[in-house]
Amino acid sequence: MILPAHTPASGSDFAIESIAACARSIRAGALIGMPTETVYGLGADADNAEAVAKVFAAKGRPADHPLIVHVAAFDGGMSGVAHYARQVPPFAQQLMSAFWPGPLTLILPRRPGVGTAAAGGQASIGLRCPSHPAAQAILTALRQPPPGEPVVWGVAAPSANRFGRVSPTTAAHVQSELGDDLLILDGGPCTLGIESTIIDCTRGAPVLLRPGSISSVQIEQACGQKLLSNEELAAHSQQAPKASGTLESHYAPNATVRLMDAKALQTALDLLGKDLTAPLIAVYARSALKTPSKHIVLRTMPDNAAAAAQELFAVLRELDAQAVKLIWVETPPAGQEWDGVRDRLQRASA
Ligand code: TXA
Ligand code: MG
Repeated sequence: MILPAHTPASGSDFAIESIAACARSIRAGALIGMPTETVYGLGADADNAEAVAKVFAAKGRPADHPLIVHVAAFDGGMSGVAHYARQVPPFAQQLMSAFWPGPLTLILPRRPGVGTAAAGGQASIGLRCPSHPAAQAILTALRQPPPGEPVVWGVAAPSANRFGRVSPTTAAHVQSELGDDLLILDGGPCTLGIESTIIDCTRGAPVLLRPGSISSVQIEQACGQKLLSNEELAAHSQQAPKASGTLESHYAPNATVRLMDAKALQTALDLLGKDLTAPLIAVYARSALKTPSKHIVLRTMPDNAAAAAQELFAVLRELDAQAVKLIWVETPPAGQEWDGVRDRLQRASA
């Protein structure tokens, strides 16, 4: 069931009842579809092992694959961090001050006995303080329990899609992935559209596990340290690259995705000629291309990286809905601001 995040009358005031219903569900050990500024999450009480097990089951996700825990923003997220993290290195502290609330997840050493199931049994925990006001309203409500009930410190929320599929950026996407029995708070289309940047803070220096809307340069400027890649760190030390969702094929639509530069795309289109009659192929490109057949679905990718990220997953879903068999995508430009979009497209095409 989809609940409105705003009261229709004012257009801006929170629908208090919707927020309360979401908080009640989480307290009762149930799941909710929660809007964030990146993608929609499938949320559960991060300290309730049974509730967290339902998240893994609903997603079809392996139980050793850790979930991100979302914390409330008052005191800069620090009380939530103090609950879950055993230790916070100074560079991680600087990153929180710079980017929270916002699209940044930090992997920190976990305090034993908290968030164990959410962390997939790892000694670390991924923490994020989202900026979406509806997510914050839920997290804040959970920190202010009715008399006699315990505080809920954090909401474990992976993206609200079946494992390996495209992440949802609207409430309707969540409903189509996980069904109408799930309580879903409709916070509107996600403004960023790709998942948070993930920085591992457990290895002495910041290590990028997943690129997102916050660029490497922004991270380095905020903490004054060089950002290492997983592979770089493995090359320089005895530490093996960390196995995580960042290493697998992910974000896959039903259609086969292929990345090509503009020239290769035009050549491929020319080779198709006028023969193609069924709408089998979609092209998603920034460059103006000549399509020989009217039956090719042509979508223009924005020139701006943030705008491209915002619509990326929704476009992949739309093209799937048109039953195209192939999606040919123009390779994003080399600039760092495109890292997040390039990463998702490379995984979608893997
Ligand atoms: O933007 C986002 O981060 C979204 C929204 C809902 O907040 N959430 C999200 O969660 O993308 P999920 O579960 O789909 O992605 C979690 C990623 C996985 O790749 C996982 O391996 C990594 O975070 N992760 C979480 N905890 C970790 C840990 N303790 N150590 C290493 N990686 C971790
Ligand atoms: Mg995901």
